[in-house]
Amino acid sequence: MTIDPIREEARTLQKELTEHSYRYHVLDDPVIDDHTYDRMLKRLVEIEEQYPELSVPDSPTRRVGAPPLSVFDTAEHSIPMLSLDNGFTADDILAFHQRNLKALEKAAIPAGRLLYTAEPKLDGVAVELTYEKGVLTLATTRGDGRTGEVITDNIRTVEQVPLRLRQTDRPVPDLLEVRGEVIIHQSGFELLNRSRLNKGDAVFANPRNAAAGSLRQLDSRITAQRPLAIFVYGVGLTRGLDFTSQSQMLSALKDFGFPVNPLIRGPISIEAVLEAYKYLGTLRPDLDYEIDGMVIKVDDIGLQQQLGEKTKSPRWAIAYKFPASEKTTRINDIIVQVGRTGTLTPVAELEPVSIGGVTVSRATLHNADEIKRKDIRIGDQALVTRAGDVIPKVVKIFPSQRKGTEAVFHMPDICPVCNTRVRRLEEEAAVKCINASCSAQLKERIRHFVSKKGLDVDGLGKKLVDQLVDKGLVSSFADLFTLTLESVAGLDRMGNKSAANLIQAIEAAKKVSMARFIFALGIDHTGENAARLMAVNFKDLDALMAADELALSAIHGMGDKTARAIAGFFSVPENTINIEKIRLAGVDITNDLYQEVGVEGPKESHVFAGKTIVLTGTLTVFKRSEAKEKLLALGAKVTGSVSKKTDFLVAGESAGSKLAKAESLKVKILDEIQFVEMLNT
Ligand code: IVH
Repeated sequence: MTIDPIREEARTLQKELTEHSYRYHVLDDPVIDDHTYDRMLKRLVEIEEQYPELSVPDSPTRRVGAPPLSVFDTAEHSIPMLSLDNGFTADDILAFHQRNLKALEKAAIPAGRLLYTAEPKLDGVAVELTYEKGVLTLATTRGDGRTGEVITDNIRTVEQVPLRLRQTDRPVPDLLEVRGEVIIHQSGFELLNRSRLNKGDAVFANPRNAAAGSLRQLDSRITAQRPLAIFVYGVGLTRGLDFTSQSQMLSALKDFGFPVNPLIRGPISIEAVLEAYKYLGTLRPDLDYEIDGMVIKVDDIGLQQQLGEKTKSPRWAIAYKFPASEKTTRINDIIVQVGRTGTLTPVAELEPVSIGGVTVSRATLHNADEIKRKDIRIGDQALVTRAGDVIPKVVKIFPSQRKGTEAVFHMPDICPVCNTRVRRLEEEAAVKCINASCSAQLKERIRHFVSKKGLDVDGLGKKLVDQLVDKGLVSSFADLFTLTLESVAGLDRMGNKSAANLIQAIEAAKKVSMARFIFALGIDHTGENAARLMAVNFKDLDALMAADELALSAIHGMGDKTARAIAGFFSVPENTINIEKIRLAGVDITNDLYQEVGVEGPKESHVFAGKTIVLTGTLTVFKRSEAKEKLLALGAKVTGSVSKKTDFLVAGESAGSKLAKAESLKVKILDEIQFVEMLNT
């Protein structure tokens, strides 16, 4: 029997899987479902196991990780990987521009040629990928700029990295060294940390550390489990690739199949660069990855060469930094908070510092293991970070600055609030107070219930909740609705007017959407998105309460843990009795989301309400799943394919066939910026 038909099958599978992986991971525009992909991959693995000679270096099967190394090799970069000078103000950037103008004047080059690219400065790990005759043969870290560590097996596991350059009209370069930044998206980072926290492993302080730690694994099978991504922004040595500007080079890299950040602008004037910086600053809090500034590069490669380099950094580029998101301050004390689910969390009380315009006086320390691991003591100087919307965290402390008076922290073995002995659950690092009527837990549950994203009861703040619980007026959600003018009038600092306001606010909260109500219940693993998902899938609360775990986990987009937690919550009689009481008190839970999306048509007057929308291409401001959530919440319908019924096509970067189809059907097309603007109206 000849191996030829098998060889043919392997080649076809390798080619098709590569293409599907590119569509999925780089274009974010898959054309087959995950299950089909997995089946094809499984078949290829079988073939390659039987005929190892068919397992070529760029086979998609090579992404799963290789046997562990005992130590990393090192390799010298053909061209040093430089760093960048920093600028912090528009004046710094204008001064950079003036220096460039002056140098060009000397060389008698017209100033009109001096244009720039403006690129997000990604906060990840710099790497270099070497392609020989189109095949990935080496990947290294930046290291000290001259020599880096060889991390080829690890890089192969990053699905976005092409193992072979994509075929284009361009000739395959003999040699191409590509440079870029490996990152972890915020969402992947949070998931990773949550699972590490559960397992009792050290959490990563920020996505950059998580990316660095993942790339530094000697066992690439571990790296393969990490949600790494990459954007490329430059080249080292090349042979057989022609380009005369940074922007041309970037579009070549994109053609070769690399993810190039879609927020890059250029070639543009220095004035437009300053505008782009402001705009990027407004996008920053909403991006799913961290950026710490903008890199401004002279676009024309000839001019770059004229300007040249200093020892450590080029003269033709500068980093225009955003305000820092990390600062050093003193840990004045470590206190212990009891959360909604009884988890005891140590919290650092800090000497207040302003980080990125917000005063920070507390930072979470996660759990006792984490404090031990980082050897955090009361009185230490600490580096504190506040990135995006996340809770401030202690990144590390500075032991060299100790005075000898710092105190070691011990986790209490009783709940600091109700004095019940705490329990450390097996296989979990968390210490819990298991007393369900612990007043700290109750307070947190009530606080969550009335919070902005929950029932949004105006004026029912922390202190008031404390009093209501402490005075025995409220011992469940349902009790809130039994409060009267007389009962609240006796509370501290509660005049007649504020008492009336409070009762009125509770009255106003009696009309609530199902999504908000589910979120407000504070069920484990059930955030806003999961709550909205429930509302989209169940006609009313009764339908949801009747669903079992199996039915819940069958919902597309639903996590197993969430399904279990929701089913578990409604199986506790106390919870259902409380809900019944709430309804009897006149709380009206309406599922407007279900009506808007599925049944009755739009209620609100948002431009997207009742419209049918298709999302395609790479979105950068939100992930596609988030954009979809937002649209659903506005009452739009989000579908997967373009037809005459489609009202809008939202076309991100590299939109492909759907864009063409929408154009031919004269469907209204929105680019991402228009889309975000319309969403916000
Ligand atoms: S260009 C000679 N472009 O910033 C130019 N770097 O401080 C040097 N970085 O090590 C690199 N985004 O890790 C360049 N769009 C971008 C970048 C970027 C992030 C990082 C990179 C580099 C560091 C320099």
